[in-house]
Amino acid sequence: MNPPRAAFPAIAIAIAATCVLSLAACNANLSEPITATAPAPMKPAMASDADLLARGEYLVRITGCNDCHTAGYTEKAGDVPTSDWLLGSPLGYSGPWGTTYAANLRLRFAEMDEAEWMTWSATLRTRPIMPDFALRAMHDDDRRAIYRFIRSLGPAGSKAPEYLPPGSAPPPPFLQLVLPPAARAGAASGG
Ligand code: HEC
Repeated sequence: MNPPRAAFPAIAIAIAATCVLSLAACNANLSEPITATAPAPMKPAMASDADLLARGEYLVRITGCNDCHTAGYTEKAGDVPTSDWLLGSPLGYSGPWGTTYAANLRLRFAEMDEAEWMTWSATLRTRPIMPDFALRAMHDDDRRAIYRFIRSLGPAGSKAPEYLPPGSAPPPPFLQLVLPPAARAGAASGG
């Protein structure tokens, strides 16, 4: 004996009966709430153009591209307008590999289309001190986002100084990495 349970079937039957009696009213009521409460459409798997641009800016900001490819960025603790980002740097990175300079990515990206970048960056090998391994480890969408953002900045500035082979003394400014002898051979062959 459980009076509350017994009451449910009675209520259900009453509701069903109401619907059967006024079928038109039930249909009308059904169609509206269902559309109104339907779940939002699923986000498309491909990020939108706006998403990619915002993500590209975020990635360039947090993954260190500016630290090397934007002159003065570290000294100003990142307080550099995006219009001045990634114009390359005259600061040399000197070590057993010679002296390398962080390229002007605004000019470099203007030379290639997105498909070229996606192929190139997936297997990019540079000399030190560029963390090419970090780019290679990125998801496709992240590398695509970086491309979209850098292209949106447009070409500007001039090329960074040319690479100097080992044995040529770089003019200042440069950072010198002095390794113990055992580590020199590996570093000389690059990343
Ligand atoms: C620690 C400093 C440093 C950081 C961080 C860094 N780069 Fe570099 N990057 C360099 C240097 C130096 C070179 C030049 C290497 C050479 O001469 O082979 C370079 C080269 C490159 C090149 C090749 C340019 C060319 O024309 O061959 C690309 C592309 C590039 N960097 C993109 C990026 C991106 C994108 C990021 C951020 C995810 C980044 N770099 C972060 C220092 C850095």
